Amino acid sequence: MHLAILGAGNVGRALATAWMKKGHVIRFGVRNPQDADLAAFVREASPRISAHDNASAVAGADVVVLATPWSSARAALASCGELDGKTIIDCTNPLRSDLSGLEIGLTTSGAEQLAAAARGAFVFKAFNQTGAENMQDQRGYAAPLAMFVAGDDAPRKATVLQLVRDAGFAAIDAGPLTAARLLEPLAMLWIHLAFRMGRGRDFGLALLDRKK
Ligand SMILES: NC(=O)c1ccc[n+]([C@@H]2O[C@H](COP(=O)([O-])OP(=O)(O)OC[C@H]3O[C@@H](n4cnc5c(N)ncnc54)[C@H](OP(=O)(O)O)[C@@H]3O)[C@@H](O)[C@H]2O)c1
Repeated sequence: MHLAILGAGNVGRALATAWMKKGHVIRFGVRNPQDADLAAFVREASPRISAHDNASAVAGADVVVLATPWSSARAALASCGELDGKTIIDCTNPLRSDLSGLEIGLTTSGAEQLAAAARGAFVFKAFNQTGAENMQDQRGYAAPLAMFVAGDDAPRKATVLQLVRDAGFAAIDAGPLTAARLLEPLAMLWIHLAFRMGRGRDFGLALLDRKK
């Protein structure tokens, strides 16, 4: 698949690393495509990864992955040009700057707000619930970590679930986009355990079904 990843930070690079191993072609959308550090990453990673401005990255992409800070998310989408009919995976979390909670509360979600801003696009929430390291490498875990996906369009959701599996997760359909109201607080649980409870970043959540 041709994937555009907006933002080449921790999450963007981790997902690019995982997906290029599955043969996907990745175009980063960034504010400075000439950035030396990103150029070095791209050079070492794969000829299938390249850096562009947001609009060029998104043109022709099958799926757009939003991996910017929440504070930049709307501007990043607005700079992409036409997003009508595009599948967008929203990895962001609308965190307060001190990580004490979600700045938009619990009766809406960042993903729903972005869907309202990018009318005509199909927004899914995923890859917001665990640390970026787990998106790149799940060695050392006894079972694949869980990654929940929320979104409204069934055929497009099948594609998103496959990309979640391609990144090594057990992909779980969490229902409509409104379920992002559950998945964004779930990210807060991971952050709380990692940073407030001192667990560090080398853990993740798995979902087990009882054997019948
Ligand atoms: N880190 C994690 O473990 C983790 C896990 C799950 C979810 N998340 C969420 O995922 C998102 C990204 O996190 P991160 O840790 O990857 O952040 P990060 O390392 O700070 O990377 C964010 C990237 O977005 C870029 N960016 C900012 N504005 C942009 C724009 N308008 N267009 C294109 N790129 C833009 C930044 O580049 P420049 O500023 O250099 O332009 C930067 O490279 C956040 O919303 C975070 O809450 C993070």
